[in-house]
Amino acid sequence: MKIIGIDGSPRKDGNTEKLVKMVLAGAQDAGGQTEFLKLADLTINYCQGCGTCRASGKCVMKDDMDLVVDSIQQSDVIVLGSPIYAWQVSGTTKVFMDRLCRLLTPEYKSRLNGQKRIAFAYTQGNPDGDMFKPYFDYQEKLYSFLGFTLTGRIQATGTRAKEDILSQEETSARADSFGRDLVVSK
Ligand SMILES: Cc1cc2nc3c(=O)[nH]c(=O)nc-3n(C[C@H](O)[C@H](O)[C@H](O)COP(=O)(O)O)c2cc1C
Repeated sequence: MKIIGIDGSPRKDGNTEKLVKMVLAGAQDAGGQTEFLKLADLTINYCQGCGTCRASGKCVMKDDMDLVVDSIQQSDVIVLGSPIYAWQVSGTTKVFMDRLCRLLTPEYKSRLNGQKRIAFAYTQGNPDGDMFKPYFDYQEKLYSFLGFTLTGRIQATGTRAKEDILSQEETSARADSFGRDLVVSK
């Protein structure tokens, strides 16, 4: 089983990157094959809204989104990580989301090649884990619409400085078992 972690935090080695990697480590220990992609290390341009991809499945812009979509198509599970920025996902994550338009045909059928599960890994400065629940519920619906099967959500709260998540032993343990479950509970 292949599990790809996609980190939408622009901050290098921050809490979101660490959380996604903790989940991947758990998945790997359970026998999964893992890959990690950091969107901020790639060139992913803004969607231009030309609509070409809807007919062809291909984007007119030649950038690293092609390799991200190829990796998604070769995976069984996607773990998408984002920090909360201004009550929403980061701009880096949103630009990636816009570029997923190619996964839908003009008839709104999914172009995903087979069943794929998607899990979400969020970090936030606010300690209240329920604060953004309505937003998470809402924005994750997009991924169902694109054809993914929603398979869970993990959050780290109260993370501000880059290393904060490392002092949350409970979060590391939860991330590890979350990753294992992605492999075990197909
Ligand atoms: C521009 C910006 C906006 C943020 N907005 C929020 C917010 O609305 N709510 C919140 O709880 N945390 C907010 N945060 C805090 C981050 O979500 C939190 O520190 C997160 O763990 C950062 O992830 P990183 O370590 O991967 O960069 C914001 C941080 C930044 C830089």
